[in-house]
Amino acid sequence: MATRCTLVGMPGSGKSTVGRHLARRLGCDFVDMDQQLEQRLGCSIRSYFEARGEAAFRAHEAALLAELAAQPGPIVLSTGGGVVLRADNRALLRTHCAPVFYLRANADEIFHRLRHDRKRPLLQVDNPQERLRLLFRERDPLYREVAHYVMETRRASVQALVSRVQMQL
Ligand code: S3P
Repeated sequence: MATRCTLVGMPGSGKSTVGRHLARRLGCDFVDMDQQLEQRLGCSIRSYFEARGEAAFRAHEAALLAELAAQPGPIVLSTGGGVVLRADNRALLRTHCAPVFYLRANADEIFHRLRHDRKRPLLQVDNPQERLRLLFRERDPLYREVAHYVMETRRASVQALVSRVQMQL
């Protein structure tokens, strides 16, 4: 079995839920980057974005990824949806966080799942559905670039996704 695995994908694609279940099945630690960042920053990601801006958040995110990538040991890592925006993060994901699984859901499915979400700063706009479409168009190629496996999440239960990931380890 691989010693670690990493989940990437759009916000709301199920990374945290699938990751938590997968780690439980594998009997290893689960690390959720957003949760760790909130602990470090001492506030919610949304508040941090509002106070300090996205660029400051991305710097913390990249620093945490570099630390996690350097740590040995079996973990399931759930990343934030924007982690693939930086080329240095993408390189680290490919080389030090393998295998990487892209949980792929399209913008409209995600909009449906997140329509009541108030937590994600990037979606606090007048037209979140359009925003998600733009984000998806920009990021889908980036998720594909880092992914060793692409898993379509449409109509798949959490347990089915966990099994499909586990089969590749
Ligand atoms: C972001 C996604 C969030 C979080 C931050 C930025 C993004 O993580 O890191 O709000 O740029 O898509 P999730 O993908 O876990 O929602």
